[in-house]
Amino acid sequence: MDAREVILNTFRKHFGTDPALLARAPGRVNLIGEHTDYNDGFVLPAAINRAVYVAASPRDDDMVELVSVDFDDQSTFSLDVLDDPDLPGWTRYPRGALWWLGKKGYAVPGFNGVIGGDIPLASGLSSSAAVEVVMIELGLALVEAEIPQVDKALGGVEVENKFIGMPCGVMDQMASAMGVEQHVLLIDCRSLDARPIPVPDDASIVIMNTMKKRGLVDSEYARRREQCEAAAGKLGVKALRDANTMMLDAAKDDLGDVLYRRARHVITENLRVQATVMALKAGGLKTVGQALHNSHISLRDDYEVSCAELDVISELANAQPGCYGARMTGGGFGGCAVALVKDDAVEAFIAAVAPAYEEKTGLKPELYVCQAAAGSSVEQL
Ligand code: GLA
Repeated sequence: MDAREVILNTFRKHFGTDPALLARAPGRVNLIGEHTDYNDGFVLPAAINRAVYVAASPRDDDMVELVSVDFDDQSTFSLDVLDDPDLPGWTRYPRGALWWLGKKGYAVPGFNGVIGGDIPLASGLSSSAAVEVVMIELGLALVEAEIPQVDKALGGVEVENKFIGMPCGVMDQMASAMGVEQHVLLIDCRSLDARPIPVPDDASIVIMNTMKKRGLVDSEYARRREQCEAAAGKLGVKALRDANTMMLDAAKDDLGDVLYRRARHVITENLRVQATVMALKAGGLKTVGQALHNSHISLRDDYEVSCAELDVISELANAQPGCYGARMTGGGFGGCAVALVKDDAVEAFIAAVAPAYEEKTGLKPELYVCQAAAGSSVEQL
């Protein structure tokens, strides 16, 4: 049974009726452009064919009864007290989205709902961004309001920044809301322009879950962001997007070793995104692969957000025939890596990387080919 069916069935079982609405928001994998979004830079993610779903029916009062399949739990709370700290942790993201909708003036009614999906949690595939976006889709559908996809994404970012307190950029929610089937999205995180670029016909995006749960990510993420802001300040630019390698080298002494390396990652990563897009358009997959490989090295050595497991799996992947390139994806410190692999080499690639990784780390990885999917949506049932 697929995730969508599980959610629908659980709703019927729990509430004894069919739901009125089913909203869906996909996870994302980032091909390249890591830790550039909060520097006003460029990213190249795709929405993936794994998603969070919420099935729901409105109620006559202001109560939300929400069942979580993933957490095997249920919680009932009032729309008037969304910030109650005693409610279960997993309800924070849905409550945050309802808080945002209320703040924007949407009078969302109480509802019965079931939420869950097939994005692995805490793996760098943005399951939390998907929860924010799916709840915004649902809330808007409950009040029959329509807004542009980009505004749903920005709503999700505001939930994350202000309700959850995580200073993320716009990439995850933009990918979840604006994904296009069979395409990666070139997002300019300053203008918020999102341009779909076709995934090459003869290559596959393979996701490699190290099964090492992300740790450290919140505090280290915030620290990286502060370091980037400090570096931009020293370079005299609004954001690192506006700096180049000449400016960087001229300011080397003033920046000091750490800020220099952080800024070098961001500046060179933005260049790698541009190079990747040009090479994708020209069919130069070797160039794409080289950029992916270099991105990993830069994230590992200059930005210091990789970990042993991500290094092992990326290195194994990069060494396989038919693999153009591989790198960690998402915030880092665990979670997933991504590889671009020749279609006819995918099977052998998975058969080689999975056991070799397990032997080196003792962790059983999950590898699968991902299809680039459409962004979030809602169905009236
Ligand atoms: C997390 C954040 C994103 C982005 C990535 C790193 O996924 O939520 O905004 O910064 O890390 O590229």
